[in-house]
Amino acid sequence: MTPEAAMKKDYTKPKSELGGVVVLDFGGQYTQLIARRIREQQVFSAILPCTASLDEIRAYEPAGVILSGGPSSVYDAEAPKCDPAVLSAGIPVLGICYGMQWIAKTLGGKVEPAGRREYGRAEFAREAAEDGELFRGLPGKLRIWNSHGDHVLAVPAGFRTTGKTENAIAAIQHLEKRIHAVQFHPEVNHTEQGTAILRNFLFQVCNAEPKWSGSAFVEETTHAIACKVGGKQVLCALSGGVDSTVAAVLVDRAIGDRLTNVFVNTGLLRKDEFTDTLKMYRERLGLHVIGVDATDRFLGQLAGVTDPEEKRKRIGREFIAVFAEQAQRLQRESGQDIAFLVQGTLYPDVIESVSVKGPSATIKTHHNVGGLPEKMPFALIEPLRDLFKDEVRRIGRELGLPDEILLKHPFPGPGLAVRVLGEVTPELLRMLRDADAVVREEIRGAGLYRSTWQAFAVLLPVRSVGVMGDGRTYGLTIAVRVVDSDDAMTADWSRLPAEVLERISTRIVNEVTGVTRVVYDITSKPPGTIEWE
Ligand code: XMP
Repeated sequence: MTPEAAMKKDYTKPKSELGGVVVLDFGGQYTQLIARRIREQQVFSAILPCTASLDEIRAYEPAGVILSGGPSSVYDAEAPKCDPAVLSAGIPVLGICYGMQWIAKTLGGKVEPAGRREYGRAEFAREAAEDGELFRGLPGKLRIWNSHGDHVLAVPAGFRTTGKTENAIAAIQHLEKRIHAVQFHPEVNHTEQGTAILRNFLFQVCNAEPKWSGSAFVEETTHAIACKVGGKQVLCALSGGVDSTVAAVLVDRAIGDRLTNVFVNTGLLRKDEFTDTLKMYRERLGLHVIGVDATDRFLGQLAGVTDPEEKRKRIGREFIAVFAEQAQRLQRESGQDIAFLVQGTLYPDVIESVSVKGPSATIKTHHNVGGLPEKMPFALIEPLRDLFKDEVRRIGRELGLPDEILLKHPFPGPGLAVRVLGEVTPELLRMLRDADAVVREEIRGAGLYRSTWQAFAVLLPVRSVGVMGDGRTYGLTIAVRVVDSDDAMTADWSRLPAEVLERISTRIVNEVTGVTRVVYDITSKPPGTIEWE
């Protein structure tokens, strides 16, 4: 092998990922949304940094390439670029926002730096005389969503303008080269017929096949895992959440009893969660799970600790210690080495780490505690690393997982430790668990569990005076936190019906000994966070 060949990266992709769309990321806030919208049409999409080489792009044998939006101006000194060969590779291209400006500038058109950025809704009108392929079958006028600074003043040679807004050229195309571009964002819900525009690109311009499906993914992934693992042993840490459960079930389907799962009771789970979840894992999902009750160890670590980050650190460390002991015990007992570890890494995490090379402006919001150290003597199996969260749920459904797990609200790795503000003690955890159970029961009872993102109680170390019967009370405070969100990056407090709030409050004060006051948190994120610590 020549040194060049040896250095050449292996870009081989699974079969189900071929023939889709590659989205080149110029750092736009909607890049992931574009990729999800494409997958909703059963066409695979991969996000690559705009700096990806043509070889890397071609490895996906893409039916089309989309150039994303981005926060830069094409005139910035550091303006992100992709390889111009993308525009002459014979692959259909759709430029969105910055993607359109980059195409226009690169191919010799004129792009005008903006006096001011144009945000928000605008009216788009098609050029009646042009056969705009992207707009085929759509009304002549559309309400669209803009978020751009520069705009195209003169189209490059061979291009035609296919639509305008009041201020600017808003859509262009070169039919023979199969290059299309729009100034606005078809991927956001505020753009009327946005999905139809993307569908026209996929199915009229690219002739993509809608073949990205859950069953194909499950079949291909389980086959790949079985080949990779061979006769070796695999270990998985279950958290009780959707991702680790779906990952474990996929691996279980592939290799059966060579997978051992570990589910740790940190003593920081919600009421009955350890026993109920363990039972579900074993009886409904048929998983081989070792349940480890390490409550005393975790509470011992937390004694006297009040700082939230210190709590997170200690819980993370203890988790790793418990898990490593289980791994060693298993190796001793079975006489076999454990070669692989299953992790429920999702596509957004993968993109965040590769995008460091590119310009993506993604904001990392949550600190994943309860994760495992980077240096462990195992190779990783990450069966979900190409999936978005909604796809994980769909795959979970395909695998027969119950709604109780698929629709479960997110729960932080450090658990109730970050919801008992200040020091965590068994007595305070008991109060929080009982109050939290009331919140969840009432939210479910009112049919609001599915429509809300998270609903929980927080125990505040704040005492206030009350009256109960003939006596005076002086007890602690529960804050009820219920939020609506799409991705936890932003959230709004849920406008719960007053009757639901009333039932929650009455029940907590009556049923949870030691709590005498209930307040409702009406802070949005930003500026607040979802959790209180
Ligand atoms: P915040 O509180 O930052 O939370 O608005 C955003 C989302 O992340 C969850 N969260 C965590 N998850 N370990 C986790 O695994 C953590 O330390 C942690 N802190 C917050 C939170 O529940 C919400 O869904």
